[in-house]
Amino acid sequence: MKKVDMSINLGGLQLKNPVMPASGTFDLFEDNNLPYDTKVLGAVMTKSIFLKKRLGNPLPLICESTSGLINALGTPGEGVEYLIKNKLPIFRKANQTVIVSIGGDGVKEYKLLAERLDKVEGIAALELDLSCSNNVDNIIIARDEFLTEQTVAQVKEVSTKPIIAKLSANVTDITKIARAAQRGGVDILSLINTVSAMAIDIKTKKAVLGNKVGGLSGPAIKPIALKMVWDVAHTVDLPIIGIGGISNSEDAIEFLLAGASAVEVGTAALINPLVMLEIIQGIEKYLGQQGYSSLEEIIGLA
Ligand SMILES: Cc1cc2nc3c(=O)[nH]c(=O)nc-3n(C[C@H](O)[C@H](O)[C@H](O)COP(=O)(O)O)c2cc1C
Repeated sequence: MKKVDMSINLGGLQLKNPVMPASGTFDLFEDNNLPYDTKVLGAVMTKSIFLKKRLGNPLPLICESTSGLINALGTPGEGVEYLIKNKLPIFRKANQTVIVSIGGDGVKEYKLLAERLDKVEGIAALELDLSCSNNVDNIIIARDEFLTEQTVAQVKEVSTKPIIAKLSANVTDITKIARAAQRGGVDILSLINTVSAMAIDIKTKKAVLGNKVGGLSGPAIKPIALKMVWDVAHTVDLPIIGIGGISNSEDAIEFLLAGASAVEVGTAALINPLVMLEIIQGIEKYLGQQGYSSLEEIIGLA
């Protein structure tokens, strides 16, 4: 079989292969908690971080659903200084390409975080989780063209790193938000985040999750995510990272054919920690068997 070039350059972000974890579903500790060498991944990704410590939502945080899970964690975390001091050294040791995901309670917080992280070495790119709810009127940036453009533009003003805008599926027309991010000067788009969802316990007659509503992830959302990637790929000329229910190499290849240049894997890795390795190997095997010499050749072929 031919040797395949699995590397890809996404708007200045160089990856040795297109597979990385999705934010919030992957963590690393000092004592090497994963059963494989994370250096083989295209990149590693932190959970979304805020400026200050956040407690998150009341329990229960997660429940199972048909072909997926619903979570309402509320993005708990220790804050950016803790991440820089305690987590980043571990992530850097684990992989040469570290992407930091940032959250924000409004446009200003994204800018402050980007400014702070720009001074920190060893961060390859920032992913903006634009789906966090804002204290003011519960506005979600990724649902609003103006706020999306503003957030990206303000972050670009202070950051020298490639910026990824992570889009939400909970919108009427995702291509409008993608265009807004492009106007703001974004380098890369990633999509999708979880899909708004809930579950009700018929015995207690109450919502199952402590927060009552949450976000659906896993195989149930894959066809939705795939269509959105396809739509966005036909609208803007920007590299796309596909996310949503990717559980094996066939799923990942579908996203590449739809126009994604890379993929993030979340829920599937909670079930099978080795799934990202299997996806990398599966894509390479598929490309070789199909007679391609590089990953780039299949991007957007569908
Ligand atoms: C438990 C859990 C925590 C998550 N935390 C974050 C987060 O902190 N930031 C973010 O941008 N997305 C977060 N997500 C969304 C995932 O990154 C991803 O967009 C979504 O789960 C869809 O991918 P999947 O179906 O492969 O899981 C979280 C998802 C789950 C299941």
